[in-house]
Amino acid sequence: MLNPVSWKSNDGKIVRCYSHKLDNQGGRLRLIEQTLLPEKLKYVELDDTESIFDAIKRLVVRGAPAIGCAAAIGLAAIVRKESFSNSTELVNFAQENANRLAESRPTAVNLFWALDLCMREIKENINAAPDDLQNILLKTALDILEEDIQMCRSIGMHGKELLKDGMGILTHCNAGALATGDYGTALSPMYVAHEAGIELKIYADETRPLLQGSRLSAWELNQAGIDVTVICDNMAAQVMKEGKIDLVIVGSDRLSANGDAANKIGTYGVAILAKYHNIPFYVAAPYSTFDLSLDSGDKIPIEQRDPEEIANAFGRRTAPKGINFYNPAFDVTPNELITGIITEKGIFHPPFSFK
Ligand code: MRU
Repeated sequence: MLNPVSWKSNDGKIVRCYSHKLDNQGGRLRLIEQTLLPEKLKYVELDDTESIFDAIKRLVVRGAPAIGCAAAIGLAAIVRKESFSNSTELVNFAQENANRLAESRPTAVNLFWALDLCMREIKENINAAPDDLQNILLKTALDILEEDIQMCRSIGMHGKELLKDGMGILTHCNAGALATGDYGTALSPMYVAHEAGIELKIYADETRPLLQGSRLSAWELNQAGIDVTVICDNMAAQVMKEGKIDLVIVGSDRLSANGDAANKIGTYGVAILAKYHNIPFYVAAPYSTFDLSLDSGDKIPIEQRDPEEIANAFGRRTAPKGINFYNPAFDVTPNELITGIITEKGIFHPPFSFK
């Protein structure tokens, strides 16, 4: 168990679900510092708005469900640190801080979904005392985490049905345990299959520019004893042509009602390659990643990131100064390229209509 996102209580307990023993003040959001992986496994503990904002923005915690869980638990930590003379004051303070955290990244809908859920819960209980509201907020945040762990597990059980001994599976970016409360979305079927003794050969796209595939997916699959091979992003076509890939599974940061799926930049290209080579292409995501207010993926906001991630990513200049860079962090795979969407409720096939 990696515990990418958890709560650390004042008495040092690391917690992933609410218990009444936690009804004291204080506590902190605890995260794996993912920018240091695979070299170092280090945890950080945070309880102030700007460091939580910064952790989400800098990808200390990343992956749509993990971002949602971290924002919710972070908000609980921020609010628990303060004292309030009345509940309206607490709710206004929480809203201000939720608004700030919501500005950290634009594409993963789980961020907004989790913060909205937390705010709704405390607004509905505005008549409770401030101390009780602090506990209600923490309970809501830990319920989001616990539910995410369960949903990922269910995605794994459904997705496992697609996997057979000896299959080669390609994945892009990291939609594994590190990107969620635990197990992951795209990697969860692989973990469940592995537990059942099914031998798979996983290919992890390196995933430029920040290498979530090689730094994170390869690291966590290897930790779990699963056979994993890293390829550069531009090798996927060749590896498919060589017949090494039977199935593609990726995660998503936001799905629209028609099944279009935003995911890490490069996913769209992989989907086109899979179509050309007649390889089934699956997206795995929990309901917290669906944005049913959007009819199509065209309306999903695409995060633009710092050009330095391309020009100077790992401490070495790899392009000349004085030129242009374009760094969209996500792309949208249109539903017609998707064979199926693996959710906690089962696998959905086209035509998709989630409204
Ligand atoms: O920029 P990141 O690392 O947050 O991007 C993450 C991805 O694109 C994941 O594939 C996606 O969030 C699914 S995570 C279960």
